[in-house]
Amino acid sequence: MLITCFSAIAGTRINIFLKVFSMLKRTRNCGQLRLEDSGLKVVLAGWVNSYRDHGNLVFIDLRDREGLTQIVFNPETQPEVHKIARTIRCEWVIAIEGIVEPRSEGMENPKLGTGAIEVAVEKLEILNKAKTPPFELDNADKTAEETRLAYRYIDLRRPVMQKKLKVRHKVTMLARDYFDKLGFWEIETPMLGKSTPEGARDFLVPSRLVPNTFYALPQSPQLFKQILMVSDIEKYFQIVRCFRDEDPRADRQAEFTQIDVEMSFVEPDDIITIHETLVAKIWKEILVVDVKLPMRRMTYQEAMRDYGIDRPDLRFDMKLKDISDIAKQTAFKVFTSAIEKGGIVKGLCAPAGEKYSRSDIEKTLTNFVMDYGAKGLAWAKVKAEDGKLSLLGGSAKFFSPEQAKQLLERFNAKADDLLLFVADQEAAANKALAPLRCKLGRELKLYEEGRFEFLWVVDFPLFEWNEDEKRYDSLHHPFTAPIDEDLAKLETDPAHIRSKAYDIVLNGSEIGGGSIRIHNMKTQQKVFDLLNISRKQAQERFGFFLNALEYGAPPHGGIALGLDRMVMILTGTENIRDVIAFPKTQRGQCLLTEAPSEVDLKQLNELNLRVQKHSQIIDEIPGEKQQ
Ligand code: AMO
Ligand code: AMP
Repeated sequence: MLITCFSAIAGTRINIFLKVFSMLKRTRNCGQLRLEDSGLKVVLAGWVNSYRDHGNLVFIDLRDREGLTQIVFNPETQPEVHKIARTIRCEWVIAIEGIVEPRSEGMENPKLGTGAIEVAVEKLEILNKAKTPPFELDNADKTAEETRLAYRYIDLRRPVMQKKLKVRHKVTMLARDYFDKLGFWEIETPMLGKSTPEGARDFLVPSRLVPNTFYALPQSPQLFKQILMVSDIEKYFQIVRCFRDEDPRADRQAEFTQIDVEMSFVEPDDIITIHETLVAKIWKEILVVDVKLPMRRMTYQEAMRDYGIDRPDLRFDMKLKDISDIAKQTAFKVFTSAIEKGGIVKGLCAPAGEKYSRSDIEKTLTNFVMDYGAKGLAWAKVKAEDGKLSLLGGSAKFFSPEQAKQLLERFNAKADDLLLFVADQEAAANKALAPLRCKLGRELKLYEEGRFEFLWVVDFPLFEWNEDEKRYDSLHHPFTAPIDEDLAKLETDPAHIRSKAYDIVLNGSEIGGGSIRIHNMKTQQKVFDLLNISRKQAQERFGFFLNALEYGAPPHGGIALGLDRMVMILTGTENIRDVIAFPKTQRGQCLLTEAPSEVDLKQLNELNLRVQKHSQIIDEIPGEKQQ
């Protein structure tokens, strides 16, 4: 194809051959060439990363996914090629043939693998031109994320983004290889299925062939993988897309990927050992970090007591302490009235927290905990006078010298520490203190970046009480087995049954979770009764699964690791969208394709559907009508 283009620089019309098929066959990639390759004739192909016209010489940094190579166009040796080179712009796709040469002294770039050489171009092919990109690749950090998502194909050209996708690819390859060698089979389960009881809202897909019915996209392959155990697959895994119609967050997408596993004839230790070994292997291969095995374990109760959360960040200490026994003796009404109402006073001691001013504490930190539902934040600073520690500021005045002494001992406090307290019902106090602890840990730099603290949280309660609906909810899901010694409590004390569930936690992020399942119909039925799921409802929702349990279900259990979350931590990003090639925004939109979008009337008719406008639906919500 012959294209005539106007060169503003040369001020002349020149003919450029836009090649449909490249005549030049690539021999090296752009990250490969070194000093010892000097003298070699090579062909490179890639995108124009940057362009510098020095009047006589033209320099281009040519980029492909492996790196950058500087190529040089010299008007004296190659006048025709040089003339065309002056018309090239950023992000054009070109191929060149040339000779590898050492860069002249002082011009080397030690930051670049190929920084010792350049390629003197002899032949040039322009494979494709490009419109001026909506943002410069080197300036993408300063570009609005919406623009980067709308032009994702350009954003993904950036080396930092490519590195993340590569890490993701490596993790899936490592997992596949690992499970294959252990005798697991990868089996695909349906995407068009029935709602699974993972607790989130389903994405529904209308059926055309059976009007007025819907499939649900899987929230996880939970029931299918358990059924595969009934079918004697014994060891199953799948790297699988899951769909949950929840509001996206920094570490949550509506569409995400699990490394999903199920095994027969196992106990929690088997699942834990296999998966911590896999995780350690991934960390070794990708980051060259040795993870100490076995990983630490902590009971749910311990985690809630000491960290206020079931996924504690163990990169720093700063445990929460219950100080209700001391607080109830004080004259501080905030404390005493919370305790009288059955609540507690819990707090933490921030090392060198002195640096927070009174206004930092009473505005910023107090607002922070109030956003998590706390009613306020009580505080006191630790001061040293004549070698003796005492409390100063905030609520210090409410503590007698003896009470202050007990408090300082409880926290093992040092001079210039800051004590912070929340008085409330235990769950509410934990809900506010756990994120406060993480915020302070980060701001006070209580840990080094690049540290990894893995943890298994075990012995989760089987149920939690749902006060609004006056019934129990499953903490994991309704198919999780109670631990053997607590089985009798199904009849007598359901609130205190521990389950055979386990979560793997890394630096405060839940990167996986699973359980041993109930394989006995009688126990399963009892659990449904406690969850207030009637036999009729159970039959309607998962009768197919309950039937399967009655045809010889072996003892079995499994886990799912959150692939996106692991890759986030491996690549050091706090934004889940960075590790997904084509992610959705906070509103669940794909800015590249503009999904979700309206559909044709014809499509709706085929599906027997009629769309009600949003405003109509709002109008028709009972009790919400305008008076
Ligand atoms: P669970 O619901 O705990 O368990 O999910 C397992 C892991 O998947 C990841 N994850 C997510 N990642 C990104 N975005 C989301 N919206 C999201 N939701 C969950 C987390 C989590 O630890 N079927 C059970 C597993 C089992 O029992 O075998 C399940 O899905 O890292
Ligand atoms: P108040 O009596 O509401 O003016 O609060 C006095 C101090 O106690 C303020 O610093 C509040 O932030 C703090 N405070 C109020 N309620 C609580 C609570 N439930 N727990 C901890 N501190 C609180």
